[in-house]
Amino acid sequence: SLDQPRPAADAGLGEFALSEFAPAKINLALHVVGRRADGYHLLESIVTFVAHEASGGADTIYPAGDRLDFASSASDAFSISGRFGVDLSPDPAAVQQNLVLKARDLLRAALEARGIAASPVAIHLEKNLPIASGIGGGSADAAAALRGLSRLWNAKLTDPELSALALSLGADVPMCLKSQPLGAKGIGEDITLLGTMPSFAIVLGNPLRGVSTPDIFRRLTQKNNPTIQPLTGDWPADLIVARNDLEPPARSLVPEIAELSDMIAAEGAWLTRMSGSGATCFGLFETSTKAAQAAANLQRRRPDWYFVAAQTIGVHP
Ligand code: C5P
Repeated sequence: SLDQPRPAADAGLGEFALSEFAPAKINLALHVVGRRADGYHLLESIVTFVAHEASGGADTIYPAGDRLDFASSASDAFSISGRFGVDLSPDPAAVQQNLVLKARDLLRAALEARGIAASPVAIHLEKNLPIASGIGGGSADAAAALRGLSRLWNAKLTDPELSALALSLGADVPMCLKSQPLGAKGIGEDITLLGTMPSFAIVLGNPLRGVSTPDIFRRLTQKNNPTIQPLTGDWPADLIVARNDLEPPARSLVPEIAELSDMIAAEGAWLTRMSGSGATCFGLFETSTKAAQAAANLQRRRPDWYFVAAQTIGVHP
């Protein structure tokens, strides 16, 4: 069984018909093992996602994920709120470039090509995750838009069809579409769902300096690193021997990553590592109580940085 993120109950959402959680994506390991002819990098990654927080009724909050609400509407609309919403919406032209709208337009075109109507929709994005931070963000939002609009429009696309649309939006969008523990190869699109993974108590930290993914790949000098060792089921050992090969170039671009990583480790994490192209670093803790205490301590020491404690999705055979 899978502790999957559950869509919020439709009740209590006011005018909105349905909602989707866009959980933070965590690269527990990320090895860069080669390069494609087109310049994209070949990766091996072990990926998990933050679980939907236990429902607290109408006031349920989603601290380590964005939330998208969808409703049929007289005309298309898009609005943004949330702690990091202001970082996305200063410029109306930039809003029109949002990956959520690209996902909407792409799915609508795919349906209309099949003779299926895709009615106007109002979409609201609650942006709780920092922008350009290595934990999915825009990719998670695009994937949640594909999931939510597929439900709203009753799109009967197959998994491979939807995954192909996702990949055309970005290398990380297909894995975010799954939002389950997985192994990824290729540029991220060659996905194997994992049959087992514990639910980890995790702390995410970010110094609130946005990082451009292409910049980090450009700074990476060693492009053909060793592959990830086959998983043995001993998670601490399997993860500890793995790496994030994007961490050295990210540390050279963003000096705060070293301080952030050391701070999380000093709180007692059994593993501390950067996710994606950074700058978010995570720590895995023995218990959710220790993770929550660590996040509170870290936030007190750096009130200007982002910290959150959460639980990742577990898969139990
Ligand atoms: O696919 P996406 O638009 O998210 O990727 C952003 C950039 O990151 C790409 O243009 C590329 O420079 C780099 N990238 C890469 N190898 C990957 C994924 C992304 O070089 N596997």
